[in-house]
Amino acid sequence: MATLSDLRGILADSGYQRDAISAIGAATPLGRTVDPARLEEITSAPTRANTAARLFYMARAVPRADAEALLAPLGCAPLIGAGLLHEDGDRVRAECAVLPVNDLLIARDFESWATGRPMGTDYVLGVGLATRMLAEFTPRDSRNLALDLGTGQGYQALLAGAHAGRVIGTDINRRALRLCGWAVAMNGKSNIELREGSFFEPVQDERGRFDLIVSNPPFVIAPPHDMAAIGGRWEGDRFVEQLLRDIPEHLAEGGVAAVLCNWHHPTPEAWPGRISAWIEGRGVDAWIVQLKHDDPRTYATNWLRESASVESEAAMIAAEAKVDSWLEYYRRIGVGAISLGIVRLRRRTAGPGGPANFIRAESIPMDKHTAPGGAQALRVFDNEVMLRTARTPADLLGHALRLSPDAELHQRLRPAKGAWAPQASVLREMKGFEFPIGLDGLTSAVLARLDGARPVRVIVQEMAGAMKADPEVALSQTAPFIEKMLRTLHLERAGGP
Ligand SMILES: C[S@@+](CC[C@H](N)C(=O)[O-])C[C@H]1O[C@@H](n2cnc3c(N)ncnc32)[C@H](O)[C@@H]1O
Repeated sequence: MATLSDLRGILADSGYQRDAISAIGAATPLGRTVDPARLEEITSAPTRANTAARLFYMARAVPRADAEALLAPLGCAPLIGAGLLHEDGDRVRAECAVLPVNDLLIARDFESWATGRPMGTDYVLGVGLATRMLAEFTPRDSRNLALDLGTGQGYQALLAGAHAGRVIGTDINRRALRLCGWAVAMNGKSNIELREGSFFEPVQDERGRFDLIVSNPPFVIAPPHDMAAIGGRWEGDRFVEQLLRDIPEHLAEGGVAAVLCNWHHPTPEAWPGRISAWIEGRGVDAWIVQLKHDDPRTYATNWLRESASVESEAAMIAAEAKVDSWLEYYRRIGVGAISLGIVRLRRRTAGPGGPANFIRAESIPMDKHTAPGGAQALRVFDNEVMLRTARTPADLLGHALRLSPDAELHQRLRPAKGAWAPQASVLREMKGFEFPIGLDGLTSAVLARLDGARPVRVIVQEMAGAMKADPEVALSQTAPFIEKMLRTLHLERAGGP
């Protein structure tokens, strides 16, 4: 019997792919109301792909016969039964947009250009930039129990469902859970459970048992408003504060969390202060990367423009007029600058012989990152424990280390005397943050020899012997270099983090 999980294949077969949607999207310039006549023209040919685009992207009612042809052999009935389609005379229309995103089908609310209506307070957002960024920063190793807090359309939960045994997605927005439920069914997932409620309230029984927690919270810092998806009635960055304070006790030992968020600080330089204080002393190690920061005016202007761009030019002008009231609000609550960053946490009970829990905070521009970057966070946690356990850099030489599987040496060569002479060699991580580091011939040779099977000390002594160099000198020179390579994540312990 055909089920909702067949819809993905049926729509792909109709040609309703990302490209078909992009063609229509290209005709909907940012900040302008769409010309409906133009959209009708683009999708006028009687193809199944056009029926799909009209029904599931443009919020049009389409003739039932066309919908049946599109959805065969599933047909309209199961979608009507699920509430995803509504009958409208001899036509049907969809309750929400259904869009292919990578290999998944996602259900989200229609955009304002399609419905002609502004977003409601229970509006369910689609897969946006922040959604994708969090997904790229999330560790994707095998996990038992995962939580997606504020699951919305469910993208994070669906991705977690591929590498976690069981996933719980929570949200306070009942409509989001409805749409997410359709996405779970459409993607044939049987290990994702959805629960309604605020913060950790719906998962109290699982407290301390999560191996992975992901959250793309409502983090926009704005005067209180009614749209829960982007911040709602929380003052400043209080939602993010509460979330980061509460995550640690819900993680299992070794469990990791990934949160993408904004937070504010009194001056641009003071960015690590408040956010670190929320995490400190809670039994987790943390890696906080500030990806960018904005002054209050730039931040307010960008968000107001972004939220208006889906409506109309008039909405854009009205939005810009609100900037001053946002700035007044920022003055009142002491916002001097606003950061965007990715926070990764790992629960670790610091025992005797091990280092205290740590917070590593650094600023790295977004463009120095290549997806996927989740594995790099696990390497940070492992390497920092090694670095903090060593009493001197020489202690690090006792570990069997190897190059990160994502490291590449990039060389620039110039012709010289009939051959190519290296001008510069730069080691880079090709997944996650780059951490570019210039190497010379000797250091790159040492790195290449590290096999992860024997301690670094043995390999360096061997190389010194072959080069007739003093092994003690070679070891003392290598130790600080190894320390630097561990910190910059180009090296890892054998067996991986
Ligand atoms: C920015 S959306 C993220 C949606 C989706 N996870 C993503 O990555 O695109 C934030 C979600 O958090 C939900 N939310 C807001 N307040 C919440 C709360 N107190 N507890 C749980 N979820 C909440 C919103 O309804 C919304 O679905």
